Amino acid sequence: MSSLFLIFLLCITMATAAQLRSGFYSETCPEAESVVRQVMKNALIREPRSVASVMRFQFHDCFVNGCDASLLLDDTATMLGEKDALSNINSLRSFEVIDEAKEALERVCPGVVSCADIIIIAARDAVALTGGPFWEVRLGRLDSLSAKQEDSNEIMPSPRSNASSLIDLFHNYNLSVKDLVALSGSHSIGQARCFSVMFRLYNQSGTGQPDPAIEPKYREKLDRLCPSNVDQNVTGDLDATPRIFDNQYFKDLVAGRGFLNSDQTLFTFTKTRKFVELFSKDQSEFFKAFVTGMLKMGDLQRDQPGEIRRNCRAINGRHMNRLWESGRERIVI
Ligand code: HEM
Ligand SMILES: *[C@@H]1O[C@H](CO)[C@@H](O)[C@H](O)[C@H]1NC(C)=O
Ligand SMILES: *[C@@H]1O[C@H](CO)[C@@H](O)[C@H](O)[C@H]1NC(C)=O
Ligand SMILES: *[C@@H]1O[C@H](CO)[C@@H](O)[C@H](O)[C@H]1NC(C)=O
Ligand SMILES: *[C@@H]1O[C@H](CO)[C@@H](O)[C@H](O)[C@H]1NC(C)=O
Repeated sequence: MSSLFLIFLLCITMATAAQLRSGFYSETCPEAESVVRQVMKNALIREPRSVASVMRFQFHDCFVNGCDASLLLDDTATMLGEKDALSNINSLRSFEVIDEAKEALERVCPGVVSCADIIIIAARDAVALTGGPFWEVRLGRLDSLSAKQEDSNEIMPSPRSNASSLIDLFHNYNLSVKDLVALSGSHSIGQARCFSVMFRLYNQSGTGQPDPAIEPKYREKLDRLCPSNVDQNVTGDLDATPRIFDNQYFKDLVAGRGFLNSDQTLFTFTKTRKFVELFSKDQSEFFKAFVTGMLKMGDLQRDQPGEIRRNCRAINGRHMNRLWESGRERIVI
Protein backbone atom coordinates (compact mmCIF):
# COMPACT_ATOMS: atom_id res chain seq x y z
CA MET A 1 0.00 0.00 0.00
CA SER A 2 2.76 2.44 0.91
CA SER A 3 4.52 2.41 -2.47
CA LEU A 4 1.19 2.78 -4.23
CA PHE A 5 0.44 5.73 -2.03
CA LEU A 6 3.79 7.28 -2.88
CA ILE A 7 3.01 6.98 -6.55
CA PHE A 8 -0.34 8.59 -5.92
CA LEU A 9 1.39 11.42 -4.11
CA LEU A 10 3.82 11.86 -6.98
CA CYS A 11 0.95 12.05 -9.43
CA ILE A 12 -0.57 14.77 -7.33
CA THR A 13 2.52 16.89 -7.29
CA MET A 14 3.08 16.27 -10.95
CA ALA A 15 -0.48 17.17 -11.89
CA THR A 16 -0.38 19.79 -14.57
CA ALA A 17 -2.89 22.23 -15.91
CA ALA A 18 -6.00 20.61 -17.28
CA GLN A 19 -8.00 21.71 -20.29
CA LEU A 20 -9.96 24.77 -19.22
CA ARG A 21 -13.71 24.73 -19.86
CA SER A 22 -16.90 26.44 -18.79
CA GLY A 23 -18.98 24.44 -16.33
CA PHE A 24 -15.85 22.86 -14.88
CA TYR A 25 -17.35 22.83 -11.37
CA SER A 26 -20.93 21.94 -12.36
CA GLU A 27 -20.64 18.50 -10.70
CA THR A 28 -18.09 19.13 -7.96
CA CYS A 29 -19.18 22.59 -6.79
CA PRO A 30 -22.23 23.92 -8.61
CA GLU A 31 -22.38 26.94 -6.27
CA ALA A 32 -18.81 28.02 -7.04
CA GLU A 33 -19.60 30.99 -9.25
CA SER A 34 -22.59 32.22 -7.24
CA VAL A 35 -20.53 32.14 -4.03
CA VAL A 36 -17.82 34.33 -5.61
CA ARG A 37 -20.45 36.62 -7.07
CA GLN A 38 -21.99 37.22 -3.65
CA VAL A 39 -18.62 38.03 -2.11
CA MET A 40 -17.94 40.50 -4.94
CA LYS A 41 -21.36 42.12 -4.46
CA ASN A 42 -20.60 42.60 -0.76
CA ALA A 43 -17.15 43.99 -1.56
CA LEU A 44 -18.66 46.48 -4.00
CA ILE A 45 -21.04 47.75 -1.32
CA ARG A 46 -18.34 47.88 1.35
CA GLU A 47 -15.77 49.69 -0.80
CA PRO A 48 -16.58 50.37 -4.45
CA ARG A 49 -12.94 50.55 -5.52
CA SER A 50 -12.16 47.06 -4.23
CA VAL A 51 -13.73 45.31 -7.22
CA ALA A 52 -11.39 47.20 -9.57
CA SER A 53 -8.45 46.23 -7.37
CA VAL A 54 -9.52 42.58 -7.59
CA MET A 55 -9.97 42.77 -11.36
CA ARG A 56 -6.37 43.91 -11.69
CA PHE A 57 -5.22 40.62 -10.12
CA GLN A 58 -6.05 38.77 -13.33
CA PHE A 59 -3.51 40.81 -15.29
CA HIS A 60 -0.77 40.63 -12.67
CA ASP A 61 -1.34 36.90 -12.12
CA CYS A 62 -1.75 35.68 -15.69
CA PHE A 63 1.22 37.56 -17.18
CA VAL A 64 3.64 36.06 -14.67
CA ASN A 65 3.95 32.33 -15.40
CA GLY A 66 0.29 31.90 -16.29
CA CYS A 67 -2.95 32.22 -14.32
CA ASP A 68 -1.93 30.17 -11.30
CA ALA A 69 -2.55 32.42 -8.29
CA SER A 70 1.22 32.70 -7.74
CA LEU A 71 0.46 36.37 -7.14
CA LEU A 72 -1.46 35.55 -3.96
CA LEU A 73 1.34 33.71 -2.15
CA ASP A 74 2.78 35.50 0.87
CA ASP A 75 6.54 35.56 1.31
CA THR A 76 8.05 32.67 3.26
CA ALA A 77 11.45 32.19 4.88
CA THR A 78 12.72 30.71 1.62
CA MET A 79 10.63 32.49 -1.00
CA LEU A 80 10.12 36.11 -1.98
CA GLY A 81 6.66 36.23 -3.52
CA GLU A 82 5.22 38.61 -6.11
CA LYS A 83 3.35 40.88 -3.71
CA ASP A 84 6.40 43.11 -3.18
CA ALA A 85 7.43 43.15 -6.85
CA LEU A 86 7.97 46.58 -8.44
CA SER A 87 4.49 46.90 -9.95
CA ASN A 88 2.71 45.42 -6.96
CA ILE A 89 4.23 46.88 -3.81
CA ASN A 90 2.10 49.57 -2.13
CA SER A 91 -0.24 49.16 -5.08
CA LEU A 92 -2.03 45.82 -5.34
CA ARG A 93 -4.79 45.71 -2.77
CA SER A 94 -8.00 43.96 -1.72
CA PHE A 95 -6.39 40.55 -1.26
CA GLU A 96 -8.88 40.08 1.58
CA VAL A 97 -11.74 39.87 -0.93
CA ILE A 98 -10.14 36.77 -2.47
CA ASP A 99 -9.59 35.35 1.03
CA GLU A 100 -13.24 35.87 1.79
CA ALA A 101 -14.31 34.07 -1.39
CA LYS A 102 -11.91 31.21 -0.65
CA GLU A 103 -13.18 30.83 2.91
CA ALA A 104 -16.78 30.78 1.71
CA LEU A 105 -15.93 28.17 -0.93
CA GLU A 106 -14.02 25.99 1.54
CA ARG A 107 -17.19 25.86 3.63
CA VAL A 108 -19.39 24.85 0.68
CA CYS A 109 -17.05 22.50 -1.18
CA PRO A 110 -13.70 22.09 0.54
CA GLY A 111 -10.61 21.54 -1.57
CA VAL A 112 -12.34 21.91 -4.92
CA VAL A 113 -12.11 25.43 -6.33
CA SER A 114 -8.64 26.82 -7.07
CA CYS A 115 -7.55 30.32 -6.10
CA ALA A 116 -6.50 30.83 -9.72
CA ASP A 117 -10.09 30.22 -10.82
CA ILE A 118 -11.43 32.50 -8.08
CA ILE A 119 -9.36 35.36 -9.55
CA ILE A 120 -10.81 34.70 -13.01
CA ILE A 121 -14.41 34.53 -11.77
CA ALA A 122 -13.98 37.59 -9.54
CA ALA A 123 -12.43 39.67 -12.34
CA ARG A 124 -15.36 38.85 -14.60
CA ASP A 125 -17.80 39.75 -11.83
CA ALA A 126 -16.04 43.06 -11.14
CA VAL A 127 -16.73 44.07 -14.72
CA ALA A 128 -20.30 42.77 -14.82
CA LEU A 129 -21.22 44.39 -11.47
CA THR A 130 -19.98 47.83 -12.53
CA GLY A 131 -21.95 48.01 -15.77
CA GLY A 132 -19.68 46.12 -18.15
CA PRO A 133 -20.27 42.94 -20.13
CA PHE A 134 -20.81 39.47 -18.68
CA TRP A 135 -19.11 36.43 -20.15
CA GLU A 136 -18.81 32.71 -19.53
CA VAL A 137 -15.43 31.94 -17.95
CA ARG A 138 -13.34 28.84 -18.65
CA LEU A 139 -12.24 27.14 -15.42
CA GLY A 140 -10.12 24.27 -14.15
CA ARG A 141 -6.83 25.98 -13.26
CA LEU A 142 -4.47 24.74 -10.57
CA ASP A 143 -2.67 26.88 -8.02
CA SER A 144 1.10 27.16 -8.25
CA LEU A 145 3.44 25.68 -5.67
CA SER A 146 5.73 28.72 -5.70
CA ALA A 147 6.18 32.31 -6.84
CA LYS A 148 9.13 34.38 -7.99
CA GLN A 149 9.40 38.09 -7.34
CA GLU A 150 12.00 38.68 -10.05
CA ASP A 151 9.72 37.19 -12.72
CA SER A 152 7.12 39.82 -11.94
CA ASN A 153 9.80 42.53 -11.85
CA GLU A 154 11.04 41.53 -15.28
CA ILE A 155 7.64 41.21 -16.92
CA MET A 156 5.13 43.71 -15.59
CA PRO A 157 5.05 47.02 -17.45
CA SER A 158 5.73 50.38 -15.85
CA PRO A 159 3.22 53.25 -16.04
CA ARG A 160 5.91 55.05 -18.06
CA SER A 161 5.68 52.50 -20.87
CA ASN A 162 5.00 53.71 -24.40
CA ALA A 163 2.61 51.97 -26.76
CA SER A 164 5.32 50.32 -28.84
CA SER A 165 6.83 48.55 -25.83
CA LEU A 166 3.33 47.54 -24.68
CA ILE A 167 2.58 46.14 -28.14
CA ASP A 168 5.76 44.05 -27.91
CA LEU A 169 4.97 42.86 -24.39
CA PHE A 170 1.43 41.78 -25.28
CA HIS A 171 2.67 40.17 -28.48
CA ASN A 172 4.75 37.77 -26.36
CA TYR A 173 1.44 36.43 -25.07
CA ASN A 174 -0.18 36.28 -28.49
CA LEU A 175 -2.30 39.26 -27.56
CA SER A 176 -2.92 41.58 -30.50
CA VAL A 177 -2.77 45.37 -30.68
CA LYS A 178 -6.56 45.35 -30.45
CA ASP A 179 -6.39 43.11 -27.35
CA LEU A 180 -3.89 45.52 -25.77
CA VAL A 181 -6.09 48.56 -26.31
CA ALA A 182 -9.26 46.77 -25.21
CA LEU A 183 -7.62 45.33 -22.07
CA SER A 184 -6.22 48.74 -21.16
CA GLY A 185 -9.90 49.72 -21.04
CA SER A 186 -9.90 47.96 -17.66
CA HIS A 187 -8.68 51.35 -16.44
CA SER A 188 -12.28 52.41 -16.91
CA ILE A 189 -12.59 51.49 -13.23
CA GLY A 190 -10.29 52.13 -10.29
CA GLN A 191 -7.55 54.48 -9.20
CA ALA A 192 -3.81 55.02 -9.34
CA ARG A 193 -1.28 56.74 -7.07
CA CYS A 194 0.45 60.04 -7.63
CA PHE A 195 3.60 57.90 -7.64
CA SER A 196 2.50 56.57 -11.05
CA VAL A 197 2.02 60.00 -12.62
CA MET A 198 4.54 62.38 -10.98
CA PHE A 199 7.19 61.98 -13.69
CA ARG A 200 4.58 62.88 -16.33
CA LEU A 201 3.67 66.08 -14.54
CA TYR A 202 7.16 67.36 -13.74
CA ASN A 203 9.83 65.51 -15.69
CA GLN A 204 8.52 63.51 -18.65
CA SER A 205 11.37 61.50 -20.23
CA GLY A 206 13.92 63.53 -18.25
CA THR A 207 12.99 66.79 -20.00
CA GLY A 208 12.16 68.65 -16.78
CA GLN A 209 8.81 69.39 -18.45
CA PRO A 210 5.32 67.87 -18.28
CA ASP A 211 4.09 65.46 -20.93
CA PRO A 212 2.73 67.73 -23.71
CA ALA A 213 0.01 65.15 -24.46
CA ILE A 214 -1.86 66.12 -21.26
CA GLU A 215 -4.77 68.47 -21.89
CA PRO A 216 -4.01 71.72 -19.95
CA LYS A 217 -7.14 71.80 -17.76
CA TYR A 218 -6.64 68.17 -16.85
CA ARG A 219 -2.99 68.86 -16.08
CA GLU A 220 -3.99 71.64 -13.67
CA LYS A 221 -6.24 69.15 -11.95
CA LEU A 222 -3.45 66.57 -11.69
CA ASP A 223 -1.01 69.24 -10.47
CA ARG A 224 -3.45 70.07 -7.66
CA LEU A 225 -3.89 66.38 -6.79
CA CYS A 226 -0.17 65.62 -6.97
CA PRO A 227 1.97 68.70 -6.18
CA SER A 228 5.69 67.92 -6.29
CA ASN A 229 5.92 67.47 -2.50
CA VAL A 230 2.81 65.27 -2.21
CA ASP A 231 2.55 61.96 -0.34
CA GLN A 232 2.84 59.77 -3.42
CA ASN A 233 0.33 57.30 -2.05
CA VAL A 234 -2.47 59.81 -2.69
CA THR A 235 -4.74 58.38 -5.38
CA GLY A 236 -6.69 59.77 -8.33
CA ASP A 237 -9.29 58.32 -10.68
CA LEU A 238 -8.14 56.47 -13.79
CA ASP A 239 -11.02 57.94 -15.81
CA ALA A 240 -13.90 60.37 -15.30
CA THR A 241 -16.30 57.56 -14.23
CA PRO A 242 -14.11 55.32 -12.02
CA ARG A 243 -16.96 53.25 -10.62
CA ILE A 244 -18.61 52.48 -13.95
CA PHE A 245 -17.19 50.10 -16.51
CA ASP A 246 -17.88 51.96 -19.74
CA ASN A 247 -16.00 53.51 -22.67
CA GLN A 248 -15.44 56.84 -20.89
CA TYR A 249 -11.78 55.85 -20.53
CA PHE A 250 -11.37 55.99 -24.33
CA LYS A 251 -13.25 59.29 -24.61
CA ASP A 252 -10.84 60.64 -22.00
CA LEU A 253 -7.82 59.46 -24.00
CA VAL A 254 -9.12 61.19 -27.13
CA ALA A 255 -9.47 64.37 -25.04
CA GLY A 256 -5.92 64.11 -23.63
CA ARG A 257 -7.25 63.14 -20.23
CA GLY A 258 -5.62 59.78 -19.70
CA PHE A 259 -4.13 59.41 -16.22
CA LEU A 260 -1.14 57.15 -16.88
CA ASN A 261 1.48 57.67 -19.55
CA SER A 262 0.78 54.06 -20.62
CA ASP A 263 -2.86 55.09 -21.16
CA GLN A 264 -2.33 58.33 -23.08
CA THR A 265 0.34 56.78 -25.30
CA LEU A 266 -2.33 54.50 -26.78
CA PHE A 267 -3.79 57.60 -28.39
CA THR A 268 -0.53 59.29 -29.37
CA PHE A 269 0.77 56.20 -31.22
CA THR A 270 -0.76 55.58 -34.65
CA LYS A 271 -0.93 51.77 -34.40
CA THR A 272 -3.09 51.88 -31.29
CA ARG A 273 -4.95 55.14 -31.94
CA LYS A 274 -7.47 53.68 -34.36
CA PHE A 275 -8.70 51.27 -31.70
CA VAL A 276 -8.92 54.03 -29.09
CA GLU A 277 -11.04 56.02 -31.55
CA LEU A 278 -13.22 53.02 -32.38
CA PHE A 279 -13.87 52.16 -28.72
CA SER A 280 -14.50 55.81 -27.81
CA LYS A 281 -17.31 55.91 -30.35
CA ASP A 282 -18.70 52.40 -30.00
CA GLN A 283 -19.03 50.95 -26.51
CA SER A 284 -20.30 47.58 -27.75
CA GLU A 285 -17.16 47.15 -29.88
CA PHE A 286 -15.13 47.84 -26.74
CA PHE A 287 -17.11 45.33 -24.69
CA LYS A 288 -16.76 42.63 -27.36
CA ALA A 289 -13.02 43.16 -27.70
CA PHE A 290 -12.57 43.33 -23.93
CA VAL A 291 -14.27 39.95 -23.42
CA THR A 292 -12.10 38.41 -26.16
CA GLY A 293 -8.99 39.81 -24.48
CA MET A 294 -9.94 38.65 -20.98
CA LEU A 295 -10.63 35.13 -22.25
CA LYS A 296 -7.29 34.99 -24.08
CA MET A 297 -5.42 36.37 -21.09
CA GLY A 298 -7.25 33.92 -18.81
CA ASP A 299 -6.08 31.00 -20.94
CA LEU A 300 -2.38 31.73 -20.31
CA GLN A 301 -1.01 28.67 -18.58
CA ARG A 302 2.38 27.21 -17.82
CA ASP A 303 2.85 23.47 -17.77
CA GLN A 304 3.85 23.16 -14.15
CA PRO A 305 2.80 21.22 -11.07
CA GLY A 306 -0.12 22.58 -9.10
CA GLU A 307 -2.68 21.96 -6.40
CA ILE A 308 -5.93 23.34 -5.02
CA ARG A 309 -4.77 25.57 -2.19
CA ARG A 310 -6.80 25.58 1.00
CA ASN A 311 -5.59 29.10 1.78
CA CYS A 312 -4.77 31.31 -1.18
CA ARG A 313 -1.81 32.87 0.65
CA ALA A 314 0.16 29.66 1.24
CA ILE A 315 0.77 26.32 -0.43
CA ASN A 316 -0.78 23.32 1.29
CA GLY A 317 1.56 21.89 3.89
CA ARG A 318 2.29 18.28 3.10
CA HIS A 319 2.82 16.56 6.43
CA MET A 320 3.99 13.15 5.34
CA ASN A 321 3.30 11.47 8.66
CA ARG A 322 -0.23 12.65 8.79
CA LEU A 323 -0.84 11.66 5.19
CA TRP A 324 0.52 8.17 5.83
CA GLU A 325 -1.82 7.74 8.74
CA SER A 326 -4.88 9.03 7.03
CA GLY A 327 -5.10 6.93 3.92
CA ARG A 328 -8.85 7.39 3.84
CA GLU A 329 -8.82 11.12 4.02
CA ARG A 330 -9.60 12.83 0.76
CA ILE A 331 -6.46 14.33 -0.63
CA VAL A 332 -6.69 17.62 -2.38
CA ILE A 333 -4.67 18.10 -5.49
C1 HEM B 1 -1.27 47.78 -20.64
C2 HEM B 1 -0.43 47.82 -19.63
C3 HEM B 1 -0.83 48.25 -18.25
C4 HEM B 1 -0.12 49.09 -17.45
C5 HEM B 1 1.20 49.76 -17.78
C6 HEM B 1 -0.87 49.24 -16.24
C7 HEM B 1 -0.46 49.99 -15.15
C8 HEM B 1 -1.25 50.30 -14.08
C9 HEM B 1 -0.87 51.19 -13.03
C10 HEM B 1 0.46 51.91 -12.93
C11 HEM B 1 -1.91 51.28 -12.16
C12 HEM B 1 -1.97 52.13 -10.91
C13 HEM B 1 -1.07 51.55 -9.87
C14 HEM B 1 -0.84 52.48 -8.70
O1 HEM B 1 -0.56 53.66 -8.90
O2 HEM B 1 -0.91 51.99 -7.56
C15 HEM B 1 -2.95 50.44 -12.67
C16 HEM B 1 -4.18 50.27 -12.09
C17 HEM B 1 -5.12 49.36 -12.54
N1 HEM B 1 -4.95 48.45 -13.54
FE1 HEM B 1 -3.51 48.49 -14.95
N2 HEM B 1 -2.01 48.49 -16.31
C18 HEM B 1 -2.03 47.87 -17.52
C19 HEM B 1 -2.97 46.97 -17.95
C20 HEM B 1 -4.02 46.50 -17.18
C21 HEM B 1 -4.85 45.37 -17.51
C22 HEM B 1 -4.66 44.48 -18.73
C23 HEM B 1 -5.76 45.25 -16.50
C24 HEM B 1 -6.85 44.25 -16.30
C25 HEM B 1 -7.41 43.56 -17.26
C26 HEM B 1 -5.53 46.34 -15.58
C27 HEM B 1 -6.31 46.65 -14.49
C28 HEM B 1 -6.10 47.71 -13.65
C29 HEM B 1 -7.08 48.19 -12.68
C30 HEM B 1 -8.50 47.69 -12.52
C31 HEM B 1 -6.45 49.23 -11.98
C32 HEM B 1 -7.04 50.03 -10.80
C33 HEM B 1 -6.81 49.24 -9.54
C34 HEM B 1 -7.29 49.86 -8.25
O3 HEM B 1 -8.08 50.82 -8.25
O4 HEM B 1 -6.86 49.37 -7.20
N3 HEM B 1 -4.45 47.06 -16.01
N4 HEM B 1 -2.51 49.83 -13.82
C1 LIG C 1 9.45 53.17 -26.15
O1 LIG C 1 10.04 52.73 -24.95
C2 LIG C 1 11.16 51.88 -25.13
C3 LIG C 1 11.54 51.30 -23.79
O2 LIG C 1 11.62 52.30 -22.82
C4 LIG C 1 12.27 52.68 -25.82
O3 LIG C 1 13.41 51.87 -26.00
C5 LIG C 1 11.75 53.17 -27.16
O4 LIG C 1 12.72 54.01 -27.77
C6 LIG C 1 10.44 53.93 -27.01
N1 LIG C 1 9.89 54.11 -28.34
C7 LIG C 1 9.46 55.25 -28.80
C8 LIG C 1 9.03 55.25 -30.22
O5 LIG C 1 9.39 56.25 -28.12
C1 LIG D 1 1.50 31.82 -28.99
O1 LIG D 1 1.13 31.06 -30.12
C2 LIG D 1 2.14 30.17 -30.58
C3 LIG D 1 1.68 29.55 -31.87
O2 LIG D 1 0.35 29.17 -31.80
C4 LIG D 1 2.42 29.13 -29.48
O3 LIG D 1 3.42 28.25 -29.86
C5 LIG D 1 2.84 29.85 -28.19
O4 LIG D 1 3.01 28.94 -27.15
C6 LIG D 1 1.82 30.89 -27.81
N1 LIG D 1 2.35 31.66 -26.71
C7 LIG D 1 1.69 31.85 -25.56
C8 LIG D 1 2.39 32.63 -24.52
O5 LIG D 1 0.58 31.41 -25.36
C1 LIG E 1 14.58 64.69 -14.64
O1 LIG E 1 15.01 63.42 -15.06
C2 LIG E 1 16.34 63.39 -15.47
C3 LIG E 1 16.64 62.02 -16.09
O2 LIG E 1 15.97 61.02 -15.42
C4 LIG E 1 17.25 63.72 -14.31
O3 LIG E 1 18.62 63.69 -14.70
C5 LIG E 1 16.87 65.09 -13.80
O4 LIG E 1 17.64 65.39 -12.65
C6 LIG E 1 15.40 65.19 -13.46
N1 LIG E 1 15.05 66.56 -13.18
C7 LIG E 1 14.38 66.91 -12.11
C8 LIG E 1 14.04 68.35 -11.97
O5 LIG E 1 14.04 66.08 -11.26
C1 LIG F 1 3.22 54.53 0.68
O1 LIG F 1 2.87 53.93 1.90
C2 LIG F 1 3.71 52.83 2.25
C3 LIG F 1 3.15 52.11 3.44
O2 LIG F 1 2.20 52.83 4.12
C4 LIG F 1 5.12 53.33 2.46
O3 LIG F 1 5.97 52.27 2.85
C5 LIG F 1 5.60 53.91 1.16
O4 LIG F 1 6.89 54.43 1.29
C6 LIG F 1 4.66 54.98 0.63
N1 LIG F 1 5.03 55.22 -0.74
C7 LIG F 1 5.24 56.40 -1.25
C8 LIG F 1 5.58 56.47 -2.71
O5 LIG F 1 5.15 57.43 -0.59
